[in-house]
This record gives sequence, C-alpha cells and structure tokens, in this order.
Amino acid sequence: MQNNLFIKNKKLNTSILIKKNYISTFVKNIAKKNEKVFCVVDSKIKNKFNFIKEKNIKIITIECGEKIKTIYGYKNLAEKLIKNNVNRKSVLVAIGGGTLGDLAGFVSSTVLRGLDFFLIPTTLLSQVDSSIGGKNGINTTYGKNMLGTFYQPKEVLIDISVLNTLPNKEIKSGYAEIIKHALINDYNFFCWLEKNIDKLLKLNKSILEKAIYKSIMIKLFYVRKDEKETLINSQSRAMLNFGHTIGHAIESHYNYKKFNHGEAISIGMITEAKISNYLGLLSSNELYRILIHFKKCKLKIFDKFIKEKKIINIINKDKKNFNDSINFSLINKIGSSIFYNKLDKDKVYKILQNI
Ligand SMILES: NC(=O)c1ccc[n+]([C@@H]2O[C@H](COP(=O)([O-])OP(=O)(O)OC[C@H]3O[C@@H](n4cnc5c(N)ncnc54)[C@H](O)[C@@H]3O)[C@@H](O)[C@H]2O)c1
Ligand SMILES: [Zn+2]
Repeated sequence: MQNNLFIKNKKLNTSILIKKNYISTFVKNIAKKNEKVFCVVDSKIKNKFNFIKEKNIKIITIECGEKIKTIYGYKNLAEKLIKNNVNRKSVLVAIGGGTLGDLAGFVSSTVLRGLDFFLIPTTLLSQVDSSIGGKNGINTTYGKNMLGTFYQPKEVLIDISVLNTLPNKEIKSGYAEIIKHALINDYNFFCWLEKNIDKLLKLNKSILEKAIYKSIMIKLFYVRKDEKETLINSQSRAMLNFGHTIGHAIESHYNYKKFNHGEAISIGMITEAKISNYLGLLSSNELYRILIHFKKCKLKIFDKFIKEKKIINIINKDKKNFNDSINFSLINKIGSSIFYNKLDKDKVYKILQNI
C-alpha cells in the first residue's frame, strides 16, 4: 500500500487519509483553517503529540474505555464544550480509540445541532472499523449503542505509527474486526490472513498496512451501498454486524468488564458461525477452518453466557430486529454473508443449547 493514500467519498461527504507520522501536522493544519479547535484526546496517548501549544486549540483529555460511552460521559464532554464557549464555527478533533470516537462523534452531531468533526483513530480496531462509516453512540442500561446518530466526520486520519504503544490484547481486539471483514466479504483476504497472521500480530508494517487498507475498503463497500442500514439483503450494512448480535449481548451482560469489544465479538463470530452451520448454511469443513484460525490467533471462542436463557432477552432488543424475529447476519461460506430473519426467540434459544 502506498504511504499517503487519500480516499474521498463524495456521496458520504467524508475523506480518509492514510499517512504515517502525521498526527501533529494534521491537527496544526486544522487549527490554521478554523477559529477554535476542541481537541479531545485519550489520556493514555496525550504525550505523543506536540500541538498543545497552538493558541486556538483547547485540549480536553479523557480516560477512555467503554465506561465513557454513557449518558454521563456525554453530558461531561458536551458541557465542557459549552462551558468553553463552543460556537458554530468551532470544530472537534477526536484522537483516541473507538470508545472516544463513538462518544465524540455523538457529541459533535448534537452540540449546537452539529459541529464539524475530525477523527484520528489510535487503536487497530478504530482504524479498521469504528472510524469508518459515520456511526457513533453511547450505551444505556438496556443495551449497547442504543443512543446515537449517523454523522460522517469531515476527515479521518489513519496513522499506523501511533499503534506501537498498543497492548497486544488491543491488537487482537482490532484483529477480530479485520477477520470479520474477511469472513463476510472476501475469501482471498481470509486466505491471505491465514498466511500472514504471525507477521500481522507482530505489527509488521507492510502486512499491517495491507490488512488495514483491505478492511477499510470492505467496510466502505457496505457503507456506500447502505449508509443508514435500511437494506435487508446481503449488501446491507447490517452484514458488518456478523458476530455482534451475540457479541453485544455478552458485552452488555458483563457490563463491559469481562471482555473488550474484540473479545466479545470473537465469541460472537464463532457462535454465529456455529448457528450458520446448524442451519445448514455453512459447511462443517469451513466452520472447522475458521475455528482453527481463531485458536491459532488465541482469539476467544466461547463463554458460558451463550447458554443462558437471559441472553435471549438482551438479543431481543438488538437494533436489527423487526417483525418479532431475531435477525442475524450469518455467513454461508467463508467470504460471503446473508441477512437471516427466520428465527424467533424460542428457536434461537434451542439452537444455542444445541451448538
Ligand atoms: N462506530 C462504529 O462503527 C463502531 C465499530 C466497531 C466498534 N465500535 C466501538 O468501538 C469501541 C471499541 O474501540 P477500541 O477497541 O478502540 O476501545 P478503546 O477506545 O477503549 O481503546 C482500547 C484501549 O486502548 C487505549 N489506547 C488507545 N489508543 C492507544 C495507543 N495508541 N496506545 C496505547 N493505548 C491506546 C485506550 O485508552 C483503551 O484503554 C466499542 O465501544 C465498540 O462498540 C464502534
Ligand atoms: Zn464491532
């Protein structure tokens, strides 16, 4: 992949720039073009940058993690902007992982009915997935991402040099979304990942760049076709939810403490691949091949909660559901996915007992 890559999307009115060692320059350039810049930064990485001295940049640091995606996290950030005299010409720049991006995107879309928003994802997960597509949101007691909007950032900067401090657990979490993209959309990419997984997890630059680029392009394919997730076919944006019906239920049940997002959706993907197999959609050979790969990368594959009756109540509130059926994005081959809406609560419970 070339180092400087600029993907402009007129339809979505957003662009993605892939460029190394560029974060400080990028923020300084935004500061040159705008009156006031609110720069919201994950506290773990704030020392990596040198733009703090710019006069019109107000830095806000936040200790990140799923705990900030709450109504309190929202109030806290929104009111900090208001207290510091945010106006319609102010812009917000978020530098952090997916939790910060989701919160800051939601705040940007609602404060003063919408501020221009720039996103600099700093975890592998946020670079390959959450920074792309304009979804944001916070959690409620009743489930994950239940409050949120579709709001495209003006520009996203993907800078892989920021990943060198990311703990291995977070690298694997991001890898879970990469493998998801391969499983739903691209058999050759899956084969390539099987071959290159050791190098990728050691952050080999060219392998990592290719995996990030492929992931972004797969995600963009669905977002371009179905930005607001209204389709109910195999081109629906909901396909990106493979592993997430179960994964979100697990995260929510354990109050976001036992597993990070990637771990929960890894369990979700294996469970949903088993459901696909149970329904006769996915062959046992392919299921086995996926399992082998997950085990090789030490991705999580099981949690006892999937067997509990309570999981059904949580799954029942999933945003994809309608007409009393629980809707899944399933895979019918490695590299191919379908929207499956033929299951009710009892059937799902029965299947979960039998896989
Ligand atoms: N909006 C979407 O389309 C979308 C898609 C996928 C996931 N998500 C959401 O993304 C969230 C998960 O994102 P995440 O995995 O980035 O979590 P995160 O933001 O909690 O980051 C993980 C950890 O890494 C730390 N961190 C961030 N950058 C770092 C760096 N460069 N070096 C060292 N540490 C760093 C953070 O402080 C945190 O402790 C979930 O809430 C999930 O629902 C959203
Ligand atoms: Zn996800």
